Amino acid sequence: MSERRPPRSSAHELERYAGLFASRTRVMRSSAMRDLMAVTVRPEVISLAGGLPDTSTFDPALFKELVGRMPSAAALQYGPSEGLQGVRDAIVSVMAAEDMAVDPDEVIVTTGGQQAIDLVTKTLIDPGDVVIAEAPTYPGAVPTFCAYEADVIQIDVDSDGMRIDALEQTLAALDAAGRRPKFIYTIPNFQNPAGVTMSLERRLALVEIARERELIVLEDNPYGMLRYEGEALPTLRSLEAPGPTDENDFVIYTGTMSKILSPGVRVGWLVAPRPLLAKLVLGKQSTDLCSSSLAQHFVSEYFASGDWRPYVASLCELYHRRRDVMLDALAEHLPAAATWTRPHGGLFIWVTLPDYIGTSDLLARALAENVAFVPGEAAFADGRGQHSMRLNFSSSTDENIREGVRRIGKIVAEQVALYGTLTGRPSGAPAAGGGETTEATPDAPAAPAAEPQAPGEGLASVLQLPRRGALGGRRSREA
Ligand SMILES: Cc1ncc(COP(=O)(O)O)c(C=O)c1O
Repeated sequence: MSERRPPRSSAHELERYAGLFASRTRVMRSSAMRDLMAVTVRPEVISLAGGLPDTSTFDPALFKELVGRMPSAAALQYGPSEGLQGVRDAIVSVMAAEDMAVDPDEVIVTTGGQQAIDLVTKTLIDPGDVVIAEAPTYPGAVPTFCAYEADVIQIDVDSDGMRIDALEQTLAALDAAGRRPKFIYTIPNFQNPAGVTMSLERRLALVEIARERELIVLEDNPYGMLRYEGEALPTLRSLEAPGPTDENDFVIYTGTMSKILSPGVRVGWLVAPRPLLAKLVLGKQSTDLCSSSLAQHFVSEYFASGDWRPYVASLCELYHRRRDVMLDALAEHLPAAATWTRPHGGLFIWVTLPDYIGTSDLLARALAENVAFVPGEAAFADGRGQHSMRLNFSSSTDENIREGVRRIGKIVAEQVALYGTLTGRPSGAPAAGGGETTEATPDAPAAPAAEPQAPGEGLASVLQLPRRGALGGRRSREA
């Protein structure tokens, strides 16, 4: 038997293979959440980083029953690229629950919503083409847009979602430069990562812009059914094509079973204007031929086994409570200079710290304290978001949410104290005010101060840690 060779130096290996890589690999980015997963599987780490639903709530007896009912030969076989009929029918019923009338023939089953984003980008984007996204945007979409070498332009969100005035300015500037976005990517409901929801007025305005300018909108809606308060708003897809016979010309809609059933099944979908469908299917064939038949049969059996909505209602009850636990913990443990959003649904809260605290640096400290979050930079293609973080509240127990936020609050307080010592400013004092010390950070996302906040909640105070380099700059200016 041959002896195992020792692992080679990765730097050396990379150099040897450098000439082989396609040029697009130079702009490929790793997914922050995927990177973090390696660390957060450690049992001692409280992870507020992932976007994980709580799958422990799914009845194990039902799971076994569904597996037992799956037709073994068909489940072990390839399936159609567009997806199994039973799954497409289930998707039609899920979309009907959000007032969307679609034909199963318009549906392509994908390997998670992630593949839907990938397929749309692969089908529409040549290197240098413009994609418009929100600022911040879904951290998993950033590596996809980068991998296809898109020019990503991000439009600030506020408490009513994407700012349509800023979008119009950007479209006008692009027009003037003879450019046109290939598509606008938006997550209108309980946006990942900011937690904000696009208002009805803005939804109507966005659909109008798409019609007038003949622009494609990619509407990503994993969280629409995870609403904990307030009234549901119509999807862009339903505004564009309200009735079953209305033609949908501009909205590509993507949904997923990940947040209403299971991310492990990796079943998502696309509904697209008919002229786009064939190319999207070709794109899927070259990627994976078809989504897993095994997983699709599981989904099909699940939807055939009874009403799927009570399980979603039970998730809403659980996540609603956990959201409140996290909001309370943030108010208790974060200093007054911090702000955070108050989402009406979904899985995430977006926290913004003072501009002298870099959350990527802070994450290293947090991991040493066995707590994890997603640094805000992951939600931007252009390096913004350094002072923000995304926190997930769906996948931890109440106790762990409180403890995780307490640990984050502690390290933030340490940074604030350090900043106070180094600058002579009393520790804990809000840094804003004079302007000379906290000049507006051009890279700060435009305050996603989220949805209307209850008095006393919301813009609580947090203080932060001096960022490497930033402090030196500040000191020299003050000297
Ligand atoms: C906005 C958004 N889109 C797409 C996805 C991808 O989900 P999946 O591939 O599990 O369906 C996620 C996952 O968290 C998400 O938050």
